[in-house]
Amino acid sequence: MTAYKHISVKPLAGSLGAEISGVDLRQIGDETFDEIRKAWLDHLVVFFRDQKLTPDQQIAFCKRFGEIHHHPFVKGMDDYPDILEIIKEETDTRAFGSTWHTDQMFNPKPAKATILFAKETPDAGGDTMFTNQYMAYETLSDGMKAMIDNVKTWNVGSRKKLSASDGMGSVSDGRYKGNDKMASKIRDPGDLVTEAAHPLVRTHPETGRKALYIGNHSVGLHGFADKEARPLLDYLMTHSVQPEMSCRFRWEVGSMAIWDNRCTMHRALNDYPGKRRRMHRITICGDAPF
Ligand code: SIN
Repeated sequence: MTAYKHISVKPLAGSLGAEISGVDLRQIGDETFDEIRKAWLDHLVVFFRDQKLTPDQQIAFCKRFGEIHHHPFVKGMDDYPDILEIIKEETDTRAFGSTWHTDQMFNPKPAKATILFAKETPDAGGDTMFTNQYMAYETLSDGMKAMIDNVKTWNVGSRKKLSASDGMGSVSDGRYKGNDKMASKIRDPGDLVTEAAHPLVRTHPETGRKALYIGNHSVGLHGFADKEARPLLDYLMTHSVQPEMSCRFRWEVGSMAIWDNRCTMHRALNDYPGKRRRMHRITICGDAPF
């Protein structure tokens, strides 16, 4: 059990997640940041309440985790290109990121961390769920582990041109059907690579632990026929999202979550029709998984 000097850390669920209190993220020193980083590596996703950062302060805080990564398909804010504003309006039916995924898995070097900051929240609904992908791997049978240990997945950001990115579903007319605001932010990724092979079992570069690396962008397995790969991917997804391997966070204005994309999946719950939700998301560049 880690002892902290500058922060309080309270686990949220048995499998992952912890709420950190006693800290104002606008003004933290290096020792406090080191403790937050340690708690993040230990708990996989950490949450803060009542934070009051401006966009510039959020960007400055996020840069302590590494270089900011830009989404290949979705534009950042006009004034703050580093921030992707996720909005669901009262009239929208689609929510961004509403299927289980890990961010930017279609990138050869997927994002290592995501920092999400709540600006407007519905009075109920719009929670985000997370899974522990170390646990997902560790609880597989020895037989399954032996079969998948050296298998690679194929991960696609856009099954049709500009579609299916980050769990929005497919788009036939070049727009995110059911969410016009997000549709208006779509950009052509140009020369950026948005398909990638990754190990199905990856080793976390900082903790050394093995995690099942899978998500809604995974469409195939190298060396497997589609009719073999799909049921296996479906099984591994179902296995990963058991309630005992997950946690659920209820947002309020000023809440912030920081998750580790190398060992978690997440999904935004789309259960607040007629209500508005607005979040500021920043992703941090990662390395090629191994
Ligand atoms: C995301 O997938 O990054 C968005 C999650 C959320 O809005 O809760």
